[in-house]
Amino acid sequence: MLKPEIEDGEASLASPAFRADVLNGFLARPRAIPARWFYDRRGSELFEKITDLPEYYPTRVEASILRDNGAAIAARIGAGHAVVEFGSGSSAKTPLLLRAIAPAAYVPIDISGDFLRESSAALSADFPGLPVLPIEADFMRPIALPAAVADLPKLGFFPGSTIGNMIPSSAVDLLRAMRLWLDTGSLLLIGMDRLKGEDILVPAYDDAQGVTAAFNLNLLERINRELDGTIPVSAFRHRAIWNDMRARIEMHLEATEDVSFTIEGRPFSIAAGETIHTENSHKYGDRDARILLRAGGWTPIGEWTDADDRFALILAEAQAPRTAP
Ligand code: AVJ
Repeated sequence: MLKPEIEDGEASLASPAFRADVLNGFLARPRAIPARWFYDRRGSELFEKITDLPEYYPTRVEASILRDNGAAIAARIGAGHAVVEFGSGSSAKTPLLLRAIAPAAYVPIDISGDFLRESSAALSADFPGLPVLPIEADFMRPIALPAAVADLPKLGFFPGSTIGNMIPSSAVDLLRAMRLWLDTGSLLLIGMDRLKGEDILVPAYDDAQGVTAAFNLNLLERINRELDGTIPVSAFRHRAIWNDMRARIEMHLEATEDVSFTIEGRPFSIAAGETIHTENSHKYGDRDARILLRAGGWTPIGEWTDADDRFALILAEAQAPRTAP
């Protein structure tokens, strides 16, 4: 018999949303856990290591696009914006943008609180006089911006191709929500990873040093740590595969033998060869990217890429409510 769905809010020391996503994710077929749960302290640190890997080009290429086109991007944006960054992480790319555009305030939003506070403090030190107003939140849920930025024009900053983690229908929902939070008249600067060959994409998500594998497997460690789990982590291996029909890299954790374990006392088993789907990373061609933004209520007005067109930074403006004809 099927167990009842686990609901948000049952008593637990861990985040109730994490607990619900994990338990429901193990009951679902195919098994799947949302990628946002990678980013505990250890996961955020491992992701920072990924961004330095020779195979993982997106972070480096995006930073180089910002560096090489800072003046042109600033000219299209103008000064005096409140920059609202979604999923700021270590805010590594942010100084490049802030230095180029002379903003009036910076509002980083991240799900990893410790990490957010540390990176906000470091950024404040580098930009004396710039109000930094961090929000610890999951930006997939409704966000209230600080009252202090209410009257400033907003620039949403959504770098790193994080939008690629969402299936297109959810990406459109999020873009539409961002337009509501940021308001009409606002701008969005978004990073999107381009479609490219599997020969480049697969190693970017399955590196020689095994850092991405450790990042993926840390999700199981986190479940053991926070949800009193007994998952035998060494019985799982990291898989990164290209799904061409859906134009995405998928990360999975594959059981290498039959395993049984408990999470908060509930029993689960996974047969050898079965997987837990842990992440999607969608890739967008130039026209795909623009259509996605337009479907989400944003009109592209500028676009910058690297010489090899590996990655794109797209500037878009919030569509007016009426878009006839
Ligand atoms: C932070 C979501 C953009 O999908 O490329 C990197 C996360 N996962 N390596 C991505 C990630 C595995 C990354 N994003």
